Amino acid sequence: MENQEVKLNTENAQITDFTNFDDQAQREREQQALNKKIEEDKLLPPDPEAVLEVRHLKKHFVLKKTLLGKPLATLKAVDDISFVVKQGETLGIVGESGCGKTTMGRTVLKLHQPTGGQIFFNGEEITNYKSRHMRSLRKEMQIVFQDPYSSLPPRSTVGGILAEPVLVHKIVPPSEVKDYVLEIMEQCGLRDYYYERYPHEFSGGQRQRICIARALTVNPKLIICDEPVSALDVSIQAQILNLLKRIQKERKLTYLFISHDLSVVKHISDKIGVMYLGSMVEFGNSDEIFANPMHPYTHALFSAVPNPDPNEKVNRVILKGDIPSPSNPPMGCKFHTRCPKAMEICKHIAPEYKDYGNEHYVACHYCQMQEK
Ligand SMILES: Nc1ncnc2c1ncn2[C@@H]1O[C@H](COP(=O)(O)OP(=O)(O)OP(=O)(O)O)[C@@H](O)[C@H]1O
Ligand code: SF4
Ligand SMILES: [Mg+2]
Repeated sequence: MENQEVKLNTENAQITDFTNFDDQAQREREQQALNKKIEEDKLLPPDPEAVLEVRHLKKHFVLKKTLLGKPLATLKAVDDISFVVKQGETLGIVGESGCGKTTMGRTVLKLHQPTGGQIFFNGEEITNYKSRHMRSLRKEMQIVFQDPYSSLPPRSTVGGILAEPVLVHKIVPPSEVKDYVLEIMEQCGLRDYYYERYPHEFSGGQRQRICIARALTVNPKLIICDEPVSALDVSIQAQILNLLKRIQKERKLTYLFISHDLSVVKHISDKIGVMYLGSMVEFGNSDEIFANPMHPYTHALFSAVPNPDPNEKVNRVILKGDIPSPSNPPMGCKFHTRCPKAMEICKHIAPEYKDYGNEHYVACHYCQMQEK
């Protein structure tokens, strides 16, 4: 078996004897195949309908360097992610804590410089834009964070917080700023007398409305919502999600909606991407993913969602062990150390990220075998 020529496709599933399989050579073959695909994809024009298009995005953090600055240990927080989000759509990103959701969102916004891959915003490649160039784009790409307590400056009034970006980006003439801000506050369900008040006077839900209003002041096209309702009570969560949906419709906004809570993601998303250890393992239309989840990790996530119907039997999938460290991810399928369907091949060969029809992508050997 040693030095055997292995092609990176479904033929791999036919290999059964891995006793002398050369994992190092396989890793090199996978890297070469990926590099070739990246080069081929670079030649493709951006999707004309996409507000955001990401190709083979990577963000690796260097944990340790030699004295000469050579990386000794790296953490692959985001490792080859690709997707397209069209205007007015919401792409929900789900996955366990530490799988790289926030890093991916921040890298898309260029708050982290990508290690590799391409980012297109409105058909324009922004991957290598410097901060000066990004400044003018910032107003079109906004972010709403999880914690509405720490993301508002405590010493400014609501009016001051909301007026600042309007003045900085010269959205309206200075004499019209107050009326403009009051109009946005109204759209976000904030009373006009809140204008003079301070963030500490508000509840978590109201503070999150202020954060959403602040993002809207600059008239963005894309909002990255990073766990925007995770810190709120369930009753308040629904109100904030409904607000996000309403303003999306009114303003034709595009959302990248990050959450570990599947019921929240289901409520708001048109498409869903499931992340595991920095990679996308399943991607597709929300209805399709909920009706026909394919990847064993997606099954495990879905089975953990509490079922409101006590008579319906749920087969809970308990994953063994903790999520491995992204600084030393497992060889082959990164999920094999915890997967209930894992086979020998999964330990050695990374599964192909394959379209099963209707843009439903899955990376799994088991799903590929089931199809045959
Ligand atoms: N600046 C950084 N330097 C080094 N490692 C980092 C940095 N930021 C994030 N990481 C690591 O990258 C990995 C992904 O982190 P990230 O915060 O993106 O995950 P997440 O999916 O958003 O998790 P959570 O659901 O807990 O918010 C983690 O292992 C984290 O420790
Ligand atoms: S490739 Fe193998 S280990 Fe990975 S999810 Fe599929 S069955 Fe599980
Ligand atoms: Mg996060």
